[in-house]
Amino acid sequence: MTVHIGAESGQIAETVLMPGDPYRAKWVAENFLEGAECINEVRGMLGFTGAWKGNRVTVQGSGMGMPSLSIYANELIREYGAKTLIRIGSCGGMQPHVKVRDVVIAMTCTTVGTPSSTLFRELNFSPCADYGLLEAAVAAARSRDCGVHVGGIYSSDTFYDERSDLTDQMTRHGVLGVEMEAAELYTLAARHGVRALGVMTVSDHLQTGEALPADQREKSFGDMVEIALEAAFA
Ligand code: HPA
Repeated sequence: MTVHIGAESGQIAETVLMPGDPYRAKWVAENFLEGAECINEVRGMLGFTGAWKGNRVTVQGSGMGMPSLSIYANELIREYGAKTLIRIGSCGGMQPHVKVRDVVIAMTCTTVGTPSSTLFRELNFSPCADYGLLEAAVAAARSRDCGVHVGGIYSSDTFYDERSDLTDQMTRHGVLGVEMEAAELYTLAARHGVRALGVMTVSDHLQTGEALPADQREKSFGDMVEIALEAAFA
């Protein structure tokens, strides 16, 4: 047990998928894993361990934002020995060619800062995906019938950001989408020598205002989960 995760040691797999939403963790466990058991309920941040094609997998909610994800990722890596951590979640599209329902695979993340930023003093560390996972995820995505984009994203601290000029600069510099967790996950993975990747479904679009209707979310999120699982065990 750790401060925020109630699982016994050994109840968490080396491969962990991390959705922001704990109920999405439950949905992934129920729809993609065999023999899934709930291994965490502390603060309602549900976690499940089961098997996918014979491979042991944990799906643990991270909560929203980098401070929350940082707590769970630190404990998963340092206390439970997680070796492969893949964020699955949603992002807002920031380019005209990035459409709602498409999948974004994040090579790197721009930030204002992460919970780790102070470690680097005046330097700006570049959070970077694990290349092997990235390559495997791109191959998995290309074999599916979904739009896929690979490149930089923006890990924001502010969902309701009133500085629209910042969004414009991100768009101008080719940033594909905005979410709120991946940069800290990549930074922690680098620090601890483990693998990390972020695979996100575009749930809404910052320029067009389009949003994925509730009844279409499952199918799109399903593509993302399968891409993440295929990449983890490629
Ligand atoms: N901003 C931040 N995070 C998000 C968004 C957004 O517009 N959409 C989905 N996750």
